[in-house]
Amino acid sequence: MKILDDEKDLLLDHEYDGIMELDNHMPKWWLWLFYFTIAWGFLYLLYYQFTGVGLTQEEQYEQQVAMAIEQYGLEPEGGNASATAVDWTLETDAASLENGKTIYMGMGNLCFTCHGGAGEGLVGPNLTDAYWIHGCSPSDLAQSIAVGFPEKGMMPYGSGARISDEDMTDLISYIASLQGSEPANAKPTDLARAVECTLQ
Ligand code: HEC
Repeated sequence: MKILDDEKDLLLDHEYDGIMELDNHMPKWWLWLFYFTIAWGFLYLLYYQFTGVGLTQEEQYEQQVAMAIEQYGLEPEGGNASATAVDWTLETDAASLENGKTIYMGMGNLCFTCHGGAGEGLVGPNLTDAYWIHGCSPSDLAQSIAVGFPEKGMMPYGSGARISDEDMTDLISYIASLQGSEPANAKPTDLARAVECTLQ
C-alpha cells in the first residue's frame, strides 16, 4: 500500500485488514456552515417557541380565517346569519332577472356548476321543481344561499364570495322565475328529504 509523503503525518495508528484511516479535518467552510445551522436553529427556537413573536401554524391559520371572515363579511359559523333578518321581496322585472341569471351562471358564485345551467340539479338539488329541502320562502332561499351547506359541498354564496342584498334579491327572483320550467335532465327529487312547497 502506497502512502503519499504528506499523508504520513495524518495517518492514524490503527489498521484493520490493510485499511488505514487519515485524520483529515473538515473543510473550514463546511464547519462554518454547521455552526451557522446551530445558531439558526437557536434563533428559530427563540423566535417561535420562547418569545412567541413568530406565529405557529395554528395561529397563522386562525389569523387567516379571521381575515377571510372580515373580507367576505361572513359570520364565524360560516354564513351571513342576518339573511333571515332582511325582508326579501321577489322582483319580476327583466333587468333584475337578467342580473340574477348573470350571478347564477357566473364564475363568481358558481351556482350553475352544482345546480345545472337551467337549475335542473346536478350535485345540488333541482331548483325548478316544487320540492324543497330547506324551505321555499324567499327568506329560506336567501338563508340557504348565504349560509350554504358546507358539509354537502355548498359554500356560503356558492363559492364563499359574498353578494350584496340587491344581488341576492335578483338571484332568488331568478330562481323563482325557474319554477315549473321542467328543464331536460332534471335531477329526481329526493322525496325522503324534500317537501312540497310553492315558491312565489
Ligand atoms: C359545490 C356545489 C354547490 C354550489 C357551487 C352551489 N350549491 Fe346550492 N346546494 C348544493 C347542495 C349539495 C345542496 C343540498 C344541501 C342538502 O342536501 O341539504 C344545495 C342546496 C341549495 C339550496 C336549497 C335547496 C333546497 O331544496 O332547499 C338552494 C336554494 C341553493 N343550493 C342555491 C344555490 C345558489 C343560488 C348557488 C350559487 C350562489 C349555489 N346553490 C351554489 C350544492 C351547491
